[in-house]
Amino acid sequence: MSEHRAPFLYIVVCAAGVADGVSELISAAHKEGWRVGVIATPNALALMDQEAIEALTGYPIRSGWRTPGAPKPLPPADAIAVAPATFNTVNKRAAGISDTLALAVLCEAYGPGIPMAMQPYVNSALAAHPAYAESLARLRSMGVMIGDFAPHEANSGGARATYNWISVLDLLRPVIQAMRSGLST
Ligand SMILES: Cc1cc2nc3c(=O)[nH]c(=O)nc-3n(C[C@H](O)[C@H](O)[C@H](O)COP(=O)(O)O)c2cc1C
Repeated sequence: MSEHRAPFLYIVVCAAGVADGVSELISAAHKEGWRVGVIATPNALALMDQEAIEALTGYPIRSGWRTPGAPKPLPPADAIAVAPATFNTVNKRAAGISDTLALAVLCEAYGPGIPMAMQPYVNSALAAHPAYAESLARLRSMGVMIGDFAPHEANSGGARATYNWISVLDLLRPVIQAMRSGLST
């Protein structure tokens, strides 16, 4: 990270019911000094106000691969926040599947050690599947920080009111403070 520019945060948005609330996280990240670019899964795009989010970040939302030779729409990431993280993307990221741009970015971040925090949004019926706990354990073993979300009851209408968008920023704060002071983590 350059000393002379604000750090850049990728916010990866998956297709969960709260996806349209991501502007809360973007605004909070801006207040903490991050520049922000959004990467949405193809299914998440339809759930978001794309124009409003692009106006807020100042960058195009990325969702598909660019053509060879086309300029990179976003600067490189200093850290990545995944919120909301679906059951689908949690499991695929843990398994190393990269069939969306979002998953490819998440999978590629492991090699260079880009700090990553994920805040799931998953109901209790999905969370009961053994793959979910196994995926979270694998992600933690890979250094991914997992937020404080507890699965909400299935068919309860969700947990929109209590979904903690800021959890990912809380998790990434020590990492970015260490980067700013030139320490390694
Ligand atoms: C309106 C709507 C709300 C959804 N909410 C959730 C959710 O809260 N959590 C979840 O894991 N999946 C949810 N899903 C299912 C996911 O969208 C689906 O598994 C999809 O394949 C996820 O794709 P992605 O992980 O690439 O974003 C929802 C689907 C729709 C249409």
